[in-house]
Amino acid sequence: MVRDTKFVTNGKGQVSQMLFAKRLEFLQTNVFADMDKAKAKALAAGRQLIDLSLGSSDLPAETHVVEAIVRSLQDRSTHGYLLFHGTEAFRLAAARWYEQKFAISVDPETEVLPLIGSQEGTAHLPLAIIDPGDFALLLDPGYPSHAGGVYLASGQIYPMPLRAENNFLPVFADIPGPVLAQARMMVLNYPHNPTSAIAPLSFFQEAVAFCQQHNLVLVHDFPYVDLVFEEAKSKEETQTGLAPSVLQADPDKTVSIEFFTLSKSYNMGGFRIGFAIGNAKLIRALRQVKAVVDFNQYRGILNGAIAALTGPQDAVKATVATFRHRRDVFIDALARIGWQVPTPKATMYVWAQLPPPWQQNSVEFCTRLVETTGVAASPGAGFGKFGEGYVRFALVHEPAVLKIAVQKIAEFL
Ligand SMILES: Cc1ncc(COP(=O)(O)O)c(C=O)c1O
Repeated sequence: MVRDTKFVTNGKGQVSQMLFAKRLEFLQTNVFADMDKAKAKALAAGRQLIDLSLGSSDLPAETHVVEAIVRSLQDRSTHGYLLFHGTEAFRLAAARWYEQKFAISVDPETEVLPLIGSQEGTAHLPLAIIDPGDFALLLDPGYPSHAGGVYLASGQIYPMPLRAENNFLPVFADIPGPVLAQARMMVLNYPHNPTSAIAPLSFFQEAVAFCQQHNLVLVHDFPYVDLVFEEAKSKEETQTGLAPSVLQADPDKTVSIEFFTLSKSYNMGGFRIGFAIGNAKLIRALRQVKAVVDFNQYRGILNGAIAALTGPQDAVKATVATFRHRRDVFIDALARIGWQVPTPKATMYVWAQLPPPWQQNSVEFCTRLVETTGVAASPGAGFGKFGEGYVRFALVHEPAVLKIAVQKIAEFL
């Protein structure tokens, strides 16, 4: 237990201490809290904020999706608690959506679980897998909530370094034996936030074999399944697409579970809806944990998600085209000011190596940048030790605004 330094006085003048769990210490994401303060400072100084720090799409959800939710809201039968059997239509829609994309059959009854956003699922899963002290193997840099979920389960993190020279893929052979002996799960995420790296099917095959050999659960967080910009070039890419599913490497679902969201492909981040597909035992275990916590997402939101997954998919293509265009504009504008950054093949992010004198100080770069120019970006260090030296820009504004942001960055540099 951590003793809070402040004393609390009750009505009778008695003094007591408030005690908090030690795990709370691990959940303090100081880097992003610092950025929040710097953004507030910039606003207070009258700067116009161009916020490229959050991966929250500025594009709206489709009209037919919103209409399905509106219809549900007006239907009073949707207003009560929703138990598992009530989510059947959604599970079926998710299973069919997956099957059409990846040609692997999915049992909607046992292999699909609706989630209140995919982050909810990846954060709860460690509670079903990790005992106190067990290791989870995570990507570093990586999505902060992956580590947060492990800390909630009182687990330990082994960060697998992602280096540019390895195409931001982890090297499994580098994981120390004693860590492996106590490891229970590995979390992957390609296309990757924050580096934008993609992984070929052969990498997932290697990961599946490794996890089978070491009795690890293989978790794949797959929010950017659709946000892929390039055409397939090699024979392998043509067969699997540029962003393969982990289940293509583990079609019998022996060790794997994959997490999807409607936040990115369907611009539904605020609606909080996602789902998991994978090994039936893992799905059941996660369902058990969730049963303690929630009664599923609101049925109206599930109906909106069904409309998104089963309706016309042209809007997904339009979203991809929008982010591709923004990527090109931003990368080109950076190149014009002398900042050469590799063109990302996927996601809504640009992962840029910091120029001198900022190479080892991404937090200071980002706080100073936002305070002096109003342009907010995410410091690489916020995604883990191996993210230091980089900055992540989220392309969540129109091209004209992105160009202004780059001008301001140029003045700052
Ligand atoms: C890797 C990763 N996982 C999960 C999420 C959150 O997804 P959701 O909105 O479904 O919780 C994000 C959002 O940026 C992400 O980048």
